Amino acid sequence: MISRRAFALAGTGIVAAVARTPRPAQAADRYDHRIAAAPWWANLRGAPGPATAVWAYDGRVPGPVLRVRQGTPVRIAVENRLDQDTTVHWHGIRLPFAMDGVPGLTQPPIKPGGRFVYEFTPPDAGTFWYHPHANSLQQIGRGLAGALIVDEAEPVDVDRDVLWMLADWRLTKEGQVAPGFGNAMEAAMSGRVGNTVTINGATPADQPVRAGERIRLRLVNAALARIMALRFEGHRPVVVAVDGQPCQPFQPEEHLLLLGPAMRLDVMLDMQGEPGRRYPVIDDFYDGLAYPLTHLAYLRQEPLRRSGSGGVSTLPPNPLPIPDLDAAERHELVLQGGMMGGDALANAGKMQGSGIWAINGVSMHGDGHAGMTPSLVLPRGTSHILALRNETAWWHPMHLHGHSFLLLSRNGSNVPHQQWGDTVLLAPWERVEIAFVADNPGDWMLHCHVTDHQVTGMMTILRVD
Ligand code: C2O
Ligand code: CU
Repeated sequence: MISRRAFALAGTGIVAAVARTPRPAQAADRYDHRIAAAPWWANLRGAPGPATAVWAYDGRVPGPVLRVRQGTPVRIAVENRLDQDTTVHWHGIRLPFAMDGVPGLTQPPIKPGGRFVYEFTPPDAGTFWYHPHANSLQQIGRGLAGALIVDEAEPVDVDRDVLWMLADWRLTKEGQVAPGFGNAMEAAMSGRVGNTVTINGATPADQPVRAGERIRLRLVNAALARIMALRFEGHRPVVVAVDGQPCQPFQPEEHLLLLGPAMRLDVMLDMQGEPGRRYPVIDDFYDGLAYPLTHLAYLRQEPLRRSGSGGVSTLPPNPLPIPDLDAAERHELVLQGGMMGGDALANAGKMQGSGIWAINGVSMHGDGHAGMTPSLVLPRGTSHILALRNETAWWHPMHLHGHSFLLLSRNGSNVPHQQWGDTVLLAPWERVEIAFVADNPGDWMLHCHVTDHQVTGMMTILRVD
């Protein structure tokens, strides 16, 4: 058992982690990290509130920021001090199959008391994250997630580099993680959306900023199910990377930053407000449920510079294989299932908690296991277009392991700004086309990152052979 005193010490660590700006990785020949997953306590609601029993990496919620450098080998030893199997998936990193962290498929699960060493060399700079891929609903829902930041080989010029790991908790009145994971009715709808959103593990207090500074803000949506649409009142964030991958800088429509579960956005944020003023950051995704996530609180201080920081330049490109669209083979993947209206409870009862969702009529559920049959076999080195068709009444952030893809079109219209990604958010009934080169051998998962949807059927396997 972990004592309350240990928690108090961890608490100070958490506060320090929130205040700290991520620091670039020191140049090294190899980055060595160790993280341990274990039950712990976190003070999600700030000082005097009750401590919440969580599962945490290294006693921190979120887990420690792992900072490495593009093209430099990384070695991360993961220890399991939970009382159940776990694994770690390095979300968005193009890495060897054996390091992908899917239990049964890429590795045997890490048993309680066991350890697994992940080794890879990240080819791409950007904002990535890590999370378990075993009993994902509970393990992510109880706090296991952390940021993995891969620094560019040459530093990017900004005044501050700030990370917001956004998590969504369903807490009871007593401030404990509510039971009821895997509720079939919820799984057939939006998934387990919580009632408490945290930034870097705490319900957000004001974020102190200085007039005139330019911040690279890394947003990570580590929620199980909550989709976010962030609006920075009085500010015009410029998106420079989607899911870690650089894009042509652009200002999003209506200045809303849309983030489905697992998605990341890097934005350049020029602090053009007035010293001493507070500006709300609103999450405006769900109709009629907008709430202020936090406030940018300007210090009463001289602006850092008078003239502004000038235009936003494109981040250095990552070495992504460019799909040959003329030669690409086209595959249709239809997303099916879920509630279509009517009597939610009665229908959920019929669905029995599995097979609620499907892709092309097949439901694969769980978190990964041996013997999953691929729905497509893609010869290594060939280009492919996946046409994803959402024939459901719900949103789905679809994630492909082991590759990054180019977003081609939405509902038949071309997508501007050269966006790459590893997770693409589909609105109800939306059609999206993505393209990629199947250059990484393995049996790669493609699944919805609303965890309830994944574990109840919205998952498939693409084999690159
Ligand atoms: Cu971040 Cu298979 O997922
Ligand atoms: Cu989904």
